[in-house]
Amino acid sequence: MDDVVQAVIDRVVAAAARHDAAQEDRLDRWRVLEPDAGRFVWFLAQTVGARNIVEIGTSRGVSTLWLADAARTTGGRVVSYDTDPAAQRDAAATIAEAGLADFVELRLADGGKGLSGFGDGEVDLLFLDAERTEYPSWWPHPVRVLRSGGVLVADNALSHPDEIAPLRELLRADLTAVTTIPVGKGELVALRR
Ligand SMILES: C[S@@+](CC[C@H](N)C(=O)[O-])C[C@H]1O[C@@H](n2cnc3c(N)ncnc32)[C@H](O)[C@@H]1O
Repeated sequence: MDDVVQAVIDRVVAAAARHDAAQEDRLDRWRVLEPDAGRFVWFLAQTVGARNIVEIGTSRGVSTLWLADAARTTGGRVVSYDTDPAAQRDAAATIAEAGLADFVELRLADGGKGLSGFGDGEVDLLFLDAERTEYPSWWPHPVRVLRSGGVLVADNALSHPDEIAPLRELLRADLTAVTTIPVGKGELVALRR
């Protein structure tokens, strides 16, 4: 991990903790990826040689930074969706500060609709960190867009198991290897063979 990127991640994670502690409404919180979960997706992206990485749920860009640092190593890039313009503006500034702007394309759009525009098998790693109850309505695209050997990762598998359960069932029907890694808030991981 690049030292500059790590310093920016540490700063945004600390700012998010202060910000989120002051918010009553869950949707007003930034809810950034936990550091150990970030390190996990960073490592996984490099393990599968992920070049085409898609993220749904940019927020302030913490997970985007982890993924983009991995993409710099693999020669790839991250396309990241969010529907919140203020979040996207902050994320763009943060990503530029980390020196990763060349490895990220931020799209202000619904991620489910965005996924439907990718071709079959075009995506190496899909990271879902948006509204968990929406994921099933995006079917079949989360699996259709994954290449053989590609992986889907969804955050909050342990913090919100009931909301993640429908996703897990759909993945179990379509993919052969589905498991939960107990880092951060729990990362549901599925491999397309
Ligand atoms: C948990 S936060 C993402 C945290 C981010 N991954 C990080 O580590 O910093 C969820 C984000 O998903 C966005 N979101 C919710 N539904 C969405 C959708 N259908 N398409 C794109 N973004 C969505 C929200 O605006 C919010 O910024």
